[in-house]
Amino acid sequence: MDKIIVHGGRPLSGFVKISGSKNSALPILAATLLTRDQCIIHSVPDLSDIHYMLQILSHLGAQVERASGTVTIQAENVATVAPYEIVRKMRASVCVLGPLLGRHKEARVSLPGGCVIGDRPIDLHLKGFRALNAACRVEAGDVRVFADELRGSTVDLEGRQGPTVLGTGNVLMAATLAEGITVIEGAAAEPEVVDLANFLTKMGAKIEGAGTRRITVEGVKELHGAEHCVIPDRIEAGTFLVAAALAGTVVTLRRVCADHLKAVTNTLSDAGYKMDITRDTITLHGNGSPRPVHIVTEPYPGFPTDMQAQMCALLSRAPGESTVTETVFPQRFMHVSELKRMGADIALEGATARINGVPHLSGAPVMASDLRASAALVLAGLVAEATTEVNRVYHIDRGYESIDEKLAGLGAEIQRVKQGN
Ligand code: EPU
Repeated sequence: MDKIIVHGGRPLSGFVKISGSKNSALPILAATLLTRDQCIIHSVPDLSDIHYMLQILSHLGAQVERASGTVTIQAENVATVAPYEIVRKMRASVCVLGPLLGRHKEARVSLPGGCVIGDRPIDLHLKGFRALNAACRVEAGDVRVFADELRGSTVDLEGRQGPTVLGTGNVLMAATLAEGITVIEGAAAEPEVVDLANFLTKMGAKIEGAGTRRITVEGVKELHGAEHCVIPDRIEAGTFLVAAALAGTVVTLRRVCADHLKAVTNTLSDAGYKMDITRDTITLHGNGSPRPVHIVTEPYPGFPTDMQAQMCALLSRAPGESTVTETVFPQRFMHVSELKRMGADIALEGATARINGVPHLSGAPVMASDLRASAALVLAGLVAEATTEVNRVYHIDRGYESIDEKLAGLGAEIQRVKQGN
């Protein structure tokens, strides 16, 4: 397994180009199953989660070609069963359920297990499918959904922890080919849902309200091919903003959608950072140490859970007490014990981390068990004394395109050490 070695203390400056969004690209690639026609998707990031999704699409019978950031897919004939060997590698595999159900009125996909950030049920996805007149069964570790005919209706997808991003996408995709009108109440309003809805609309779907908590879909008989460019990754952008805040002099992010990052830039501004923001660039001016802040993660447009770990790394250096409360995945704090090994002063009280800023972090061998936690450890390594060795880098490769090369381009002293698996 590869590891990343960071020698702390090098100032970051310059420009970094943000890649296409992983969490937009995954359901959009799955949505190509809704048509027999060719679809062309641009700005698809080169990430292991994307490779798994393309493997699933190929396994289902789609012709998939990839040339740098552009993926061409034609799913002329597709199977409806996605097996455990492929699906188990990535939870987002569940988002082939919606398009297969829409197009073939049946799908069988291995159930995703729990994962380190929490339980991760799919009950709300199934609630949505049932509302479309589908039956849902769990058989031998697989979830099977099927219907004689999909019929639109009204369904509320708000769960105990708020709306569901992939659940909204899944039901939206199935509803595009259902008979009549579907209304999704309690829908997720994340930019990734809007991007999916924009792609589906290009394919001929009739959708209103994406980006709000109520989405209305008027089913059509069939969808056609379309070409689409995935939105910039707001979480990768946010991660580089935190890198710049920790270790930067002046760092400019290019190809961002600044609108999608307001919760993050407002928080960084509260922490004392000056930023110059245009529609598609953000320049952050580093200033030594941040002020403490209090963060509560929430569904969009609130502060994103996917930026929580990185923010803990930043606030570890903010003199005074900060608090970070996680409401979306209340157990998502695996990074805390590893940051403490680097000298951070963090106490966990339920779903709240109380962080007392320390003047110095010290490098250590660390290991994280999830994507954003791993990124947080790399960020901490940028300012830690001596050397930080981040193990199990495959977690980072799931969601960050060449993070080591991009940070090195900004001046970080960072290397990837390749090791046999
Ligand atoms: N939930 C349910 N029932 C469901 C679905 C979700 O109770 O049927 C709960 C979850 O347990 C969680 C909350 O609802 O407490 C929100 O989960 P959501 O369904 O929105 O998460 P997701 O769609 O599976 C996506 C991203 C995650 C991101 C979350 C929240 C993708 C591929 N994944 O997951 O991204 O944290 O939305 O914004 O889009 C990441 O990129 O590191 C990542 C984990």
